[in-house]
Amino acid sequence: MNELIYRPGLEGVIAGETSISTIAGGLSYRGYSIEDLAEHTRFEEVAYLILYGELPNSIQLTGFQDRLMEAAQVPSEIVDVLRRVPADVSMMDVMRTGASLLGHWDPDAGDNSREANLRKSERFLAQLPIIMAARHRILQGEEPIPTDQQYSLSANLLWMLHGVPPEASHVKAMDVSLILYAEHEYNASTFTARVVCATLADLHSSVTAAIGALKGPLHGGANERVMEVLEEVGSAKRAEAWVRDALARKVRIMGFGHRVYKTGDPRARYLKSLCDQLATKPEHRDMEEMADVIERIVREEKDLPPNLDWPSARLYHYMGLPVPLYTPLFVVSRVVGWSAHVIEQLENNRLIRPRAKYIGPGPRSWVGIAQR
Ligand code: CMC
Repeated sequence: MNELIYRPGLEGVIAGETSISTIAGGLSYRGYSIEDLAEHTRFEEVAYLILYGELPNSIQLTGFQDRLMEAAQVPSEIVDVLRRVPADVSMMDVMRTGASLLGHWDPDAGDNSREANLRKSERFLAQLPIIMAARHRILQGEEPIPTDQQYSLSANLLWMLHGVPPEASHVKAMDVSLILYAEHEYNASTFTARVVCATLADLHSSVTAAIGALKGPLHGGANERVMEVLEEVGSAKRAEAWVRDALARKVRIMGFGHRVYKTGDPRARYLKSLCDQLATKPEHRDMEEMADVIERIVREEKDLPPNLDWPSARLYHYMGLPVPLYTPLFVVSRVVGWSAHVIEQLENNRLIRPRAKYIGPGPRSWVGIAQR
């Protein structure tokens, strides 16, 4: 046991290889910086890049979009389940159930080949937004809206939620947020997906487990908690006193800190400028001001930078999206990264099975039940 290394939370441990993304020198997907991708490409191109390894040419992109469009419907049995799940069940739990249910109707469910996993990944990408939007509509007492062939994935998301043609600025903001959420090396949910598929379990099991990992507030669930913080603080005027008091009480401020970015999350920096552009109403300007004050104090007192969830919560708020959709939107995007990692893991698989440092009692003599 002496030669084994123990790092709580696997901090600083390289747990495998990947050619999908790296945080060295800023975040990049397959060699392209996220800033370039967010500036110049659409989410569909980035999804193709992450899944297939190269940016698509126009023929490949058209083929990819056509396949997504063709896959953009879910079995009516799944919509029935969405109607029957109790109304108070969290949207993330519904996404987890939805991902699992999709496997029951997927023609490639039992096929773990690269080709089948790519087909299943594309179906996940096309169908998870439908599950999210349909459940949202049902909870509002309204009927689900089918996708519209004229729209991109981001535009369709907004269309299926609201049933009105989406504003161009909102489509762009949604697209950028999905690009930035799509992939992030060995984060907790991606690692979960890799652990599951490394046993040679299928893609649907891996994605279902990954959604469970993403739900937690230390990971994807943070973007919803950020909104709770902003609502509780209420105004720029109250921000400084609120944060100083919270930090003095050792409260974790959601949206700050990161296991691997200690000086700053490049995704947060990029999204902040988009928040500025979208915050046009006076109450949104006040929220930006409030966020700036909170950022300044958290840096001053704890030297912690904001992570991606800090601006993304505000961005979704300015777009008029309800808070329970924030982490599901992360799912809709990150399913691309999870799928690519599952495919990569299976190409050079080794069961992921670390050791534990035992800290329980030493050897003991068995005692009969009457003596216990
Ligand atoms: N607010 C206040 N203090 C914090 C925070 C925070 N958000 N994050 C870390 N700290 C403190 C922590 O208390 C500790 O202080 P001390 O040394 O005085 O005990 C120090 O910073 C180091 O923290 P840590 O827990 O050892 O750091 P970690 O690498 O284990 O944690 C983290 C990373 C993301 C879990 C943590 O920063 C956190 O809980 N942040 C809030 C939740 C959040 O925003 N999560 C989103 C992560 S990024 C995107 C995503 O995955 O969705």
